[in-house]
Amino acid sequence: MIASDAGGASERLTRILIAGDSVKSLPPQPLNGQRHEAPQTTCSMSNAEQIILRAWRRSDISSLIRYANNRKIWLNLRDIFPHPYMQADAEKWIAICESSQEPTTNFAVELRGEAVGGIGCRLLDDVNCKTAEIGYWLGKPFWGRGIATAALTQTTDYAFRIFSVERLQATVFEWNPASARVLEKCGYVLEGRLRRSIFKDGRLGDSLLYAHCRE
Ligand SMILES: CC(C)(COP(=O)(O)OP(=O)(O)OC[C@H]1O[C@@H](n2cnc3c(N)ncnc32)[C@H](O)[C@@H]1OP(=O)(O)O)[C@@H](O)C(=O)NCCC(=O)NCCS
Repeated sequence: MIASDAGGASERLTRILIAGDSVKSLPPQPLNGQRHEAPQTTCSMSNAEQIILRAWRRSDISSLIRYANNRKIWLNLRDIFPHPYMQADAEKWIAICESSQEPTTNFAVELRGEAVGGIGCRLLDDVNCKTAEIGYWLGKPFWGRGIATAALTQTTDYAFRIFSVERLQATVFEWNPASARVLEKCGYVLEGRLRRSIFKDGRLGDSLLYAHCRE
């Protein structure tokens, strides 16, 4: 369950913040490229931990391979996410992140100094230019601790503050109830079932379209 900043009232709280992102756009933000830190969000978890959302860096390559190279993760993501996830894939990803423009759209989810997952948004174009698509994954050892919910809550807040989008959306494969639950916990609304829209691992399936509009 997400709580607004409880001020460390309980040891069973995980603090999550976005760090390391410079903000250059979206007037009237008067930040002028300074380091920008999002408000902290607390989230009740199974034990006392702190999550940080921050830019990917080269030192993440080994943990990226360790956690991203998992078929259970790949089965729930688009095929552009490699499997098996090898050294070259991790290096390519870090290079993409390092060369991408600011503000940052892709964050590593850091837990106890280690990148254990990723979350990001992709700004759409043309008539969809006021929409961003959200995506995320988490290393299997860390599932079921509320981490994705905390990360998505913070990323949703970040995307609406930093980008001039009116809508955030996510597509969930029908066999992924955990992700649907994460989206619902973060205020995303199920808008529809896209029948037979997914072909993954030789299997045809529906996808569920979730969206969160600016309030
Ligand atoms: C989806 C994913 C990010 C969830 O991460 P997480 O940190 O375990 O998620 P959380 O702990 O914040 O929340 C998971 C919720 O799903 C629920 N859940 C888990 N398995 C479930 C299932 N089989 N059926 C229904 N609900 C389920 C949990 O109980 C929890 O809800 P609750 O807090 O109400 O109890 C993680 O499983 C993952 O990386 N999966 C592979 C990649 C992926 O699916 N990415 C998203 C693509 S849209």
